[in-house]
Amino acid sequence: MITEAKKDVIKATVPALEAHGTKITTTFYQNMFEAHPELLNIFNQTNQKVGNQPKALAMTVLAAAKHIDNLDAIVPHVVGIAHKHRALEIKPEHYPIVGKHLLEGIQEVLGDKATPEIIDAWGDYYNHIAQIFIDVEQDMYQDATWDGFKPFTVKKKEVMTSEITRFTVDSDEVDKSFTAGQYITVKVKPADYPYEALRHYSICSNKTVDGLTFAVKREGEDDTKGVVSNYLHDDIESGDVIFLSAPAGDFKVEDTHSELLFIAGGVGATPVMAMAEAAIAKGNDVKFLYSAINEAYLPFKDQFENLEAEGADIRIKFSESEGYLNREDFAGNENREIYICGSMTFMNAMINELNAMGIDDSRIHFEPFGPKMSLQKV
Ligand code: HEM
Repeated sequence: MITEAKKDVIKATVPALEAHGTKITTTFYQNMFEAHPELLNIFNQTNQKVGNQPKALAMTVLAAAKHIDNLDAIVPHVVGIAHKHRALEIKPEHYPIVGKHLLEGIQEVLGDKATPEIIDAWGDYYNHIAQIFIDVEQDMYQDATWDGFKPFTVKKKEVMTSEITRFTVDSDEVDKSFTAGQYITVKVKPADYPYEALRHYSICSNKTVDGLTFAVKREGEDDTKGVVSNYLHDDIESGDVIFLSAPAGDFKVEDTHSELLFIAGGVGATPVMAMAEAAIAKGNDVKFLYSAINEAYLPFKDQFENLEAEGADIRIKFSESEGYLNREDFAGNENREIYICGSMTFMNAMINELNAMGIDDSRIHFEPFGPKMSLQKV
């Protein structure tokens, strides 16, 4: 329980802390990794360098403080993050570590103004939020199809384009069931990289009979990006073994509508293709709009052809010659339930176009490849 007096203390300090979010997060990560270098194996070091996740974690704690009078309101937003935490094997014992170093960050930003009363109130509040996550994640650990990371053998490696490669992996040890739209998490240790590295990749087909199929986009080749994707593209071949944690994620087709519009850009096609395959199999009316740079960058041709053969209405738009997807492409589909996946920029552009057409956010479901909270209207 957080007392009313402590809630007031927190509310009064949120604006100052939000204004110095970068400082808090920098101090937080520096101190935490110094005290717990083992966490470098869990956190995505690329995100640390480009600044996505540092902001996501700390800024979520600050953003949630605005709802301190009704913290239950944040539970729906916790679910997506909790799926990622479960997939990364974040456990209850990790929460006090984050809490300690987050409070240090807050203390440093507030300087002399960080009275014991303020630090005590933020401590109580953090513990409360942490418990919400721990409870949600506990249920997810129980429901997961397997525990921890298990070895899978690569059965098939298919180069789709210069950027995207599709992998099918299998294991006899586990139950491979999943919900279309979910992702698996790969754990690798490239030889020339100092840490283990974890990445989420969407399961891209619902039709694999033995195993799980996911696709990987090759990211930039310098040391700030692409450590895992380049390793998978260049060093992993059929017959090799990689480690996966169980399918996770809450992006899925709701059973509320039978007329569906899927919108995807680039490698964002991955979860959406599995969802479209599953939706067609259930007899839904599926329209799929896909944006690729040009023909050379068009992956998954076999899956698009299959979807079309099964009755999906597919339109592929090449951005180089035809421009990006926009409201003209969406016109006539206003009554469909909409599912979108792509980069953060793509998602923002698509959501803005749909909102401008008067389509309500409640009808738009999305999975950005990046921290979702930065797009969430909380
Ligand atoms: C990801 C929030 C606790 C480790 C995230 C994301 C958010 C978040 C918003 C981004 C999710 C997305 O990609 O959509 C929080 C909050 C916490 C908390 C509010 C406390 C109440 C923890 C703890 C750990 C942890 C205790 C482990 C020590 C991670 C990792 C990621 C992540 C490894 C993936 C991103 C990356 O690797 O850079 N968290 N988190 N989090 N969180 Fe947490």
